[in-house]
Amino acid sequence: MEYRNNNLYVEKVNTNFLSKKIKTPFYCYSLSKLKNNIKEFKKNFYEINPLICFSVKSNNNLNILRIIGRFGLGADVVSKGELLRALKAGINPNKIVFSGVGKTLDEINFALQKKILLINAESENEVRNIESIAKKKNKKVNIGLRLNPNIDAQTLKKISTGRNKDKFGISEKDFIRLLKKYNNSQNLNIKCLSVHIGSQILDYKPYLKMMNVIDGIIKKTNFKFEYIDLGGGMGIEYNKNSKKLNYKKYRLIIKKFLRRHKVKIIFEPGRSIVGNTGILISKVIYLKSSGNKNFVIMDAAMNDFMRPALYGSKHQIVPAKKNRTIIKKIHDFVGPICETTDIFLSMPSYQKIKENDTMAICDVGAYGIVLASNYNLRTKPAEILINKSNIKIISKKENLKKII
Ligand code: LLP
Repeated sequence: MEYRNNNLYVEKVNTNFLSKKIKTPFYCYSLSKLKNNIKEFKKNFYEINPLICFSVKSNNNLNILRIIGRFGLGADVVSKGELLRALKAGINPNKIVFSGVGKTLDEINFALQKKILLINAESENEVRNIESIAKKKNKKVNIGLRLNPNIDAQTLKKISTGRNKDKFGISEKDFIRLLKKYNNSQNLNIKCLSVHIGSQILDYKPYLKMMNVIDGIIKKTNFKFEYIDLGGGMGIEYNKNSKKLNYKKYRLIIKKFLRRHKVKIIFEPGRSIVGNTGILISKVIYLKSSGNKNFVIMDAAMNDFMRPALYGSKHQIVPAKKNRTIIKKIHDFVGPICETTDIFLSMPSYQKIKENDTMAICDVGAYGIVLASNYNLRTKPAEILINKSNIKIISKKENLKKII
């Protein structure tokens, strides 16, 4: 994504032109960015030779998953729906891991039937259920146990998962007890220790602590895991001054760990693969000034893109056409939904904007369309994929008549 002659382009396509062709708001992804991110991620961990399971919850578009699958990645799924979608996208079941605190019997049964690589169990009762289903089927099933390492990943409070007050995983004490309890099970093979301490992590230190906890457990139990699944969580730079995750440090910590333990590493990245591949293109419906503010009322709203309303996250908003007239007044970029939290961003000043101008909300490729809803009975937006000058609709805008 870049400006040429003051016009915003995604690859070779002018976003102003796009917004005239396709009804706004819509998600617009760049294929080359997606490919680069995958290559970059692989390069960062090349020496570790991990199995990379893309976290489908971050973006489950079938086309996007097909591309990711073609690059040899597996999938991390958290529901039967995501598992079905990943399989439909051609992802090898042998590269699929299933996480989540509340897998139903139906979901466990289905996962066993599809012979996926691992079910990462998150509680003792889930392990009990997997064992009894496996027994009925007269099978021995590979599972992972998800550890809750009680680590604060120093990320947004609402997306932290690794503290013992969070619902995820099994505490260290119970983890060690379950290893012993199920070690000789006829129907379970505990192959993996899995962990995921949170999302949008920009500091490598929580990862260091996490690796130390894992190291400690292996030392204490002497248990031979075949896989250590480190989850995802690698953060991206949502603004220019953002901290950057030091991949080199994270890699070195893992390399050191691998010198002591011969295991296969699994990663479950979502945001770092798709986050910066997408923008949400929207038009300005009205301008309204009130008190000391200009409200820029756009045709995108929190139902289309939820992160700012849900977590207070800041996503840059850039114009499809740049100009040089700066208006020194607070600009609140809002949607039409009847909620005060339906605000994307507040800026102290902004370039002159007119009604019908096209704007782009940045870095919405992860946890964007997947969190969209029909709130206020609005239709979910389309998704398009740009490949150089080629424009492909990879998901149509929902049909209002159908949802009515
Ligand atoms: N593995 C597990 C077990 C997870 O729970 C998650 C994300 C991931 C992998 C992928 O994490 P990533 O690499 O994308 O950080 N909706 C929130 C993020 C929720 C993340 C939930 N779990 C947001 O928009 O920031």
